[in-house]
Amino acid sequence: MIEKFVLGKPFETFATVERLTPSEGEIPFFTTIDKGFFYKLSDNDIVYGLGEQVGGINKRGKKYISRNSDNPHHQEDTLSLYGAHNFLIISGEELFGVFFDYPGFMEFDIGYTNRDELTITAENMDMDVYIITGNSERDIVKQFRKLIGKSYIPPKWAFGYGQSRWGYKCEEDIREVARRYRENNIPLDSIYLDIDYMEDYKDFTVNKEAFPDLKGLCEDMKKEGIRLVPIIDAGVKIEKGYSVYEEGVEKGYFCTDREGNPFIAAVWPGRVHFPDFLDPKAREWFGDKYSVLLDMGIEGFWNDMNEPAIFYSEKRLNEVLERINELGKKNMGISEFFEFTGIVNGLSNNEGDYDEFFHNVGEKSVPHCRLHNLYGFNMTKAAGEAFERLSPDKRILMFSRSSYIGAHRYGGIWQGDNKSWWSHLLMNMQMTASLNMVGFLYTGADTGGFGCDTTEELMLRWLQLSVFMPLMRNHSALGTREQELYRFRNCEDCKKMIEIRYGLIPYLYSEFMKAATNDDMMFRPLGFDFKDEAARNTEDQVLLGSELMLAPVCTRNAKGRYVYLPEEMLLIRMRSLEDYDCEPLPKGHHYVKADLKELIFFIRKGKAIPVGKSAKNTESLDSDHLSLLGYEGAEYELYEDDGISRNVMGSIRKIKNKPYCRMTTS
Ligand code: NOJ
Repeated sequence: MIEKFVLGKPFETFATVERLTPSEGEIPFFTTIDKGFFYKLSDNDIVYGLGEQVGGINKRGKKYISRNSDNPHHQEDTLSLYGAHNFLIISGEELFGVFFDYPGFMEFDIGYTNRDELTITAENMDMDVYIITGNSERDIVKQFRKLIGKSYIPPKWAFGYGQSRWGYKCEEDIREVARRYRENNIPLDSIYLDIDYMEDYKDFTVNKEAFPDLKGLCEDMKKEGIRLVPIIDAGVKIEKGYSVYEEGVEKGYFCTDREGNPFIAAVWPGRVHFPDFLDPKAREWFGDKYSVLLDMGIEGFWNDMNEPAIFYSEKRLNEVLERINELGKKNMGISEFFEFTGIVNGLSNNEGDYDEFFHNVGEKSVPHCRLHNLYGFNMTKAAGEAFERLSPDKRILMFSRSSYIGAHRYGGIWQGDNKSWWSHLLMNMQMTASLNMVGFLYTGADTGGFGCDTTEELMLRWLQLSVFMPLMRNHSALGTREQELYRFRNCEDCKKMIEIRYGLIPYLYSEFMKAATNDDMMFRPLGFDFKDEAARNTEDQVLLGSELMLAPVCTRNAKGRYVYLPEEMLLIRMRSLEDYDCEPLPKGHHYVKADLKELIFFIRKGKAIPVGKSAKNTESLDSDHLSLLGYEGAEYELYEDDGISRNVMGSIRKIKNKPYCRMTTS
């Protein structure tokens, strides 16, 4: 059951799609405090949720702030990431879910100040609060997901492997990536174009010197079965003669400053204006611009820097430069020097700048800080709505960096600028389960890590998680070690993992589609299905569909890892699609060997999954000849469709052929 409470005058966020009649009276479970809510946690309570946040599966013991932030250096103590997903499930003494539909900054103190206290505060109490009760965590999620609407469905080719890097500078770089993947016979479906394909980082332009014929390149790549996926940034360069800038100014489609002039901030191209994505007309206008690239044959995009990220604002930069000038004339001791570094470092993504610009919402001017967390959502919405108009039959790939609940109807998200750190590999898995709770099914992290230099070992282990992620993209930052798979000495080992991925695509796509069409989760914490203490407190394993449990190796130099089995399962140790072992293991704790070249995962008792052969890309997959891997006698219901039409006409095929590995349980 869902109860809605309307407090004060909430801002209409469009996070939900169902219109509920608000309940009167007290919000159950919580005590209302000054600008917030309080809940007394019991010893065994687990707090799930918050979507894209650090902090693991059980969010207890930490503080979090919903304030969409560009933070390429996030780590354990980070308070905010790129998305704001104010949904929690409290599971223990009581069981309920809660969603605070509030687009401003919001703080969640989940047993941080006091171990047994959950305190949620906001800048004001203008919000809708939804309380969801049900008979299980999964049931609560399903009800919530119905409330917020169906998740975005990408084209099937977006389940193939993608190669990206910030630093592919020209057409030849792209051709080389394609050539080397094909030479090494490593399957590949997409190559991503980062900001360098644009002319001076201007959205919807192409650098003619570096990419003289993008349409032709796109065609050539498609002949190879590879799609190009360009980036689009939130900021629009201020430049006379640049049509997007000129039109935006003329039509009043940019966010404004206190004087009503277009607000000036700076990102990659230097000074930019931010489109006012909260204004439906501006959304439509910006969305239509994607046609420039769609017309060249592009079928997918990623939206970036849409928190929005700000290098500096014009106003603050001038103040800082003035102050630096004064400081420079002094003998800079401890306080002056710290002030100097502080004001310089404080230029980027300065919270104060979010007070300085305004949106045009229904004839009213609303300060950005009141609805900050909706900006990325509405950029994704601009794209998603436009694709429905511009490509009414065919699905277009869209994923964004910043998000709010509701954006999951228009696109997926990638998990931002992670690092080549082992801790971020684990975080990738944990966050995916939390993101599934709030509707983001199409997600994944930069495989191998974005910032810092990766290693072959980390890449292999990361691939062993990413083979299961809907978005499997290898992406890295400018200046870091190049990490295309063919760069590694033991490229063959990486190739085997990619081939396994392609063998698993029929299953993964089927599970994704079942989750999307049934408002369900593809990835779940163990505690959602198993109620024993060990399962409820497992942070480094997750369930996939009804069939699998994942327990990836997330530490350096490991030869194996400890795994908890909440029931008997089949351990699969896969070196390639043809070379694998299966071993039934009883319920309990086990040390499981996992050589670097082996993918390990578990098939749940009585279940089996379909596995196919590899192919050079998704379109060449043979879905007619699948084998079952798992328990003898098990069946699998495979969901299938054409993988491209918007109006999904799926069918279910029951597979019960000879099991791949015949296992008799011990
Ligand atoms: C930030 C994004 O998160 C990253 O993926 C991208 O490579 C850079 N911007 C450059 O566009």
